[in-house]
Amino acid sequence: MPSSRVMKPVLEVLEGKSHASPPIWLMRQAGRYLPEYRAIRSQAQTFLDLCFTPKLAAEVTLQPIRRFRFDAAILFSDILVVPHALGQSVSFESGEGPRLDPIADVRGLDILRNTVDQNALAPIYETIDWVKRELPAGVALLGFCGAPWTVATYMVAGRGTGDQRPARLFAYGDPEAFARLIDILVAASADYLVRQFGAGVDAVQIFDTWAGILPPEEFRRWCVDPVQRVVKLVRRQVPNAKIIGFPRGAGTALTSYVKEVAVNAVGLDWRIDRTFAREHVQSRVPVQGNLDPLALIAGGAALDRAVDAVLEAFSGGPFIFNLGHGILPETPIEHVERMLARVRGYGGSRR
Ligand code: CP3
Repeated sequence: MPSSRVMKPVLEVLEGKSHASPPIWLMRQAGRYLPEYRAIRSQAQTFLDLCFTPKLAAEVTLQPIRRFRFDAAILFSDILVVPHALGQSVSFESGEGPRLDPIADVRGLDILRNTVDQNALAPIYETIDWVKRELPAGVALLGFCGAPWTVATYMVAGRGTGDQRPARLFAYGDPEAFARLIDILVAASADYLVRQFGAGVDAVQIFDTWAGILPPEEFRRWCVDPVQRVVKLVRRQVPNAKIIGFPRGAGTALTSYVKEVAVNAVGLDWRIDRTFAREHVQSRVPVQGNLDPLALIAGGAALDRAVDAVLEAFSGGPFIFNLGHGILPETPIEHVERMLARVRGYGGSRR
């Protein structure tokens, strides 16, 4: 832990503190809605080149902090660098999303290494080092990884899919082989997060974007259990590791997730019933979220109402304001400013 005396509100929340005006950052806050991101993006050949060029990745990480002074910076990278470091071919087609060599069956697992190639990930740890040097005091630096289930959905399908059908069918058809893939991802994710802590991140988030598609038994087996193992492995080496879990779409299963996974905070998507989340989730663990990213695109009075509803529901307890999923490329910057002013003006502001 850094011995800085300046308090980082995001870390205070992860320790259980409440703020009248909650700290704020946005998932995908570095990205195409920012002209300065698009300018840097055009300097790198491919998206992965950008992720693996520490100076550029650090610059992009810092851009939303300079513009909006968010309370956290999130390392600029992608969840699919882990399959890349396990030996699977990964690329990003512009405008089309990720493309991987699909792992169609048990034989497909043979191409994978058993452990991540840390040399492949070294530029990311260097990015963390660069960011730390320029990050304003009081701003937390977040690392991240994808949860094993969500990363596996891309590894198996070779691309994003609407319903994650290839991975779900693989898991039903050959659960032992699928469990092997998940086991490899558990170890790889834990190693990767431990190294991110070693490089200086303050906390990490585990993105389980596709958790909500699974029936209860599969959710326990492929989301709760693997993330619980990742968290335990990380804490074995970084005992006080601060970890935010984000099992998107988990709904009422969030209660069992927070009970079993022992995260320091949990992300709430925009569909969760807020009364349920306050009474059954925030009563156990700090929460983060949950503004609908489309309300942020809509702007105006609709945005104000949506922001107020989130603040009224959660600002009485430990809470980090965020979206319920990543910010979308078409989001107007003025709407982000409007939202920030409203959040910061709430409850007799500290800033
Ligand atoms: O939040 C941040 O600002 C940090 C950077 C970050 C990115 N991806 C950058 C990115 C983070 C935390 C992610 C996580 C991620 N990546 C997730 C989990 C969260 C979520 O959004 O569901 C997932 C599922 C991925 C996989 C991924 N990466 C997809 C499906 C895509 C294509 C869709 C898209 O938005 O373009 C990406 C590409 C990607 N990752 C971009 C960015 C900024 C856009 C690529 C570009 O700029 O050319």
